[in-house]
Amino acid sequence: MNYQIINSLINKFDPELAHSLAIQFLKNIYIPIFSSKDDEILKINVLGKKFSNPVGLAAGFDKNAEVYDKMLALGFGFAEVGTITPKAQEGNLKPRVFRLNEDEAIINRLGFPNEGLHKIKSRVESKKVEGILGINIGPNKDSVSRIDDYVECFKNFHNLCSYICINISSPNTENLRNFHDQENLKKLLSEILQIKKILDSKTPVVLKISPDINDGDINIICKNILEFNLDGLVLTNTSIKLRENLVSDKKNEVGGLSGTPINETSNLIIKKFFKIIKNKIPIIGVGGVSSGATAYEKIRAGASLLQLYTGLVYKGPFIVKTIKNELAKLLKKDGFSSLQEAVGVDSE
Ligand SMILES: Cc1cc2nc3c(=O)[nH]c(=O)nc-3n(C[C@H](O)[C@H](O)[C@H](O)COP(=O)(O)O)c2cc1C
Repeated sequence: MNYQIINSLINKFDPELAHSLAIQFLKNIYIPIFSSKDDEILKINVLGKKFSNPVGLAAGFDKNAEVYDKMLALGFGFAEVGTITPKAQEGNLKPRVFRLNEDEAIINRLGFPNEGLHKIKSRVESKKVEGILGINIGPNKDSVSRIDDYVECFKNFHNLCSYICINISSPNTENLRNFHDQENLKKLLSEILQIKKILDSKTPVVLKISPDINDGDINIICKNILEFNLDGLVLTNTSIKLRENLVSDKKNEVGGLSGTPINETSNLIIKKFFKIIKNKIPIIGVGGVSSGATAYEKIRAGASLLQLYTGLVYKGPFIVKTIKNELAKLLKKDGFSSLQEAVGVDSE
């Protein structure tokens, strides 16, 4: 059965129910490991790690760290789980995930539903896997101090993963994006780096940014990440804008838009950051990756690694293999001998 048929069946379910069924399915099947067969040209060293390919699973798909081992086995070069908050929380009222089929997009206003750090930590501890794991952390909705929540998550997870992603860009936790402002960002980064120093942690820290920012915000963020020696950026999260060209009747649902309609904006943001930070700080490009061509655009814009979520929903799990094959062909066709050589060639 091809994925288009499966997709039309999935369409009959509520999107969140379909996702839970997919997680249950993945938890219970055996997947032979595909990753060792990656083309040499896709190898890249980033964040002090060797990636066999640059295609990663974006945060939000595996919120409770239940299936990242299976996703790595499917051929993803790395997987990011979360967003995880200190305490378990339910998230916003349902329905809160909407498929915009005609636009190959999703709008979600989940609000970080997750089982909380203690339960998820035990799961990660018991599920030792080879492969690169990122842990995405955030604050609880009712938190007294959001910074303390990030610090608490950092303390608990830093030695269980390959990198920590500080998520300041979900649009579904009120005012979370205020951490993009100079003073708030400075305070957050200094507290994270202080705890990192106290714990003598070598785990890289990356920051996940909103696509709904202007050039002034970009300058502030660049100044801070350079000053605090951050290890990387994830560009970008979902958008609360970009509704004008959508055709689906769900286009005005409140929440963050992902998928094809945010591809161009995400690429533009990647280019703008790359122009300032060059190769000093690696970029993980995310937003609308759904083919080898869209993956290649992001690499050329300045991303060293990629992630996807919505593309996986619309095209199915074998999209990972397709993207890798197509990307390797595109790199060779343009005469590159490694992925690294292509990073940022279109940023000017
Ligand atoms: C249903 C859904 C839930 C998400 N949850 C999270 C999350 O918990 N934390 C986070 O950092 N990003 C989350 N994201 C954002 C994705 O990680 C990604 O940044 C965004 O969807 C753009 O990539 P895409 O177009 O490939 O989906 C979520 C996205 C979707 C569609």
